[in-house]
Amino acid sequence: MSRFPRFFSVLQQRPRHLLDHSLSQGRRYLMAASIESARAKIAEDIKIDIFTATQVADNAKALKEISRSFIFPTAEMYAYAIRASLGDDVYYEPSTKALEAHMAKITGKEAALFVPSGTMSNQLALRTHLKQPPYSVLCDHRAHIARSSSHSGRCPGTHRFRAPTQVVELENTLNGTIIPQEDVIVISDYVHSKGLIMHLDGARIWDVVAQTATPLHELCAPFDSVRLSDSCLVGPKEFITKARWFRKLFGGGMRQIGVLSASAAYALSHNFQLLPAVHALAKRLETGLEEIGVEITSAAETCMVFFDPSPIGVTYAELVDRASKLPEPIKLGGSRLVIHIQTSPAAVEDFLTLVRQLADEKKQAGFVPPERKASPNGRPYSSIYVRSGVKA
Ligand SMILES: Cc1ncc(COP(=O)(O)O)c(C=O)c1O
Repeated sequence: MSRFPRFFSVLQQRPRHLLDHSLSQGRRYLMAASIESARAKIAEDIKIDIFTATQVADNAKALKEISRSFIFPTAEMYAYAIRASLGDDVYYEPSTKALEAHMAKITGKEAALFVPSGTMSNQLALRTHLKQPPYSVLCDHRAHIARSSSHSGRCPGTHRFRAPTQVVELENTLNGTIIPQEDVIVISDYVHSKGLIMHLDGARIWDVVAQTATPLHELCAPFDSVRLSDSCLVGPKEFITKARWFRKLFGGGMRQIGVLSASAAYALSHNFQLLPAVHALAKRLETGLEEIGVEITSAAETCMVFFDPSPIGVTYAELVDRASKLPEPIKLGGSRLVIHIQTSPAAVEDFLTLVRQLADEKKQAGFVPPERKASPNGRPYSSIYVRSGVKA
C-alpha cells in the first residue's frame, strides 16, 4: 500500500496531459540538480594553477639568467604596463591607439597598426601590397622573409622567368649590419622609378637609429611601408586600413592588448637610450673573439656578432655544451651571438674565458691552427647562420 494514497488517487483522477506535465516538472527538478553537480565537476576539471610551488624563486632564477641568455620584460615595464587602458583593440583600444599614433608620427608615415609579431607584420604588409598575381618579392637571400617567414621572398638572380617583382624588401639591420642610407636611397629611387613598392623589415631599425644617430623618419622615408619591432606596421592610411582588415582576417585582432602596447611604449621611452652600451658590449665580444683567433663572419656593427670557432679547433656543439655547464650557464644556439639590454658584461667575459680555455685545450691536444684563408674552410660562407643542433 502506498504511503501516499491520496496523492496517487488525485493523480489518477487528473487528465493525462496534466499527469505528464507534473512528471516532466519533477524530472526537470531532478535534472537541474544533476546539471548543477555536473557543472561543479566540470568546473573542478577545468581549474588550473599554472604557478609552481617555487614560482617566486623560479622567477628570481630566470631573472638572473637573462643577463646570460634571453631578454625578458623588466619589473619596471610590468609596473608601467598594468596601468594601461582596458579595451578591445578590434574596436580601437585607447593605449594601443595612442601608441599607433606615436609610431606613425616618429616614422613620418600616415598611420600605424599594432601587430602580434614581426612575422605577421611582414606578411600583412606583403598581403596588402600584392593585389593581383603574378607577383614576387625581391629580397636579400639572408632576409628573414626568405629564410624564416614561410619563404615569401625570392632572392636576386633566382627564378628569373617566374612571377614579376612587385615589392622589393630590405632588412635593416641585416644580421646586425647596417645598410648605408645612401644605398637605400639609390635602391628606393630605382624601385620607385619602375613603379614598384619598397618595404622595410626594420626588426632592428632602433639599433640603426641609435648607432648612426639618424632620425627614424629619415630611415623610413625611402620605404612605402615599414615593420618595426615589436611590432608595428606603418605606411599610408589606406594601406594600414586594409592591413587592419587582414589582421582581423588572419586572427591577429588581439583585443585586450593595452598591456602589450604599454610595454612597447615603456621600451621606447626607457630602453632605447641603453642601445649604445649594448653595441659597445657587442664590440667588446667581437674584439675578444678575434684576439683568441676565432673567425668573425659578420662584424659587430650593432648588437650581433656571428663567429666561426673552427680556426681554434672548436665546434659550435662543444661550445654550446661547455657554456651550458658553466657555474653560471650561458645559453648559446650556434654562430649568432646577440647582446641585449639585460646582457651583463660579466657574461661576455665568462664566455670569452671559456673560448680561450677551449682554444688552449685544443692546442695542448695537438691542434695546429690552419693557415688563415678567406674563410677557414677555404670557401666563402654560404650562410653565416649556423645552428649547433645541440640543446643547451
Ligand atoms: C629580421 C627579422 N624579421 C622578422 C622577425 C620575426 O619576428 P617575430 O619573431 O616577432 O615573428 C625576426 C625575428 O627575430 C627578425 O629577426
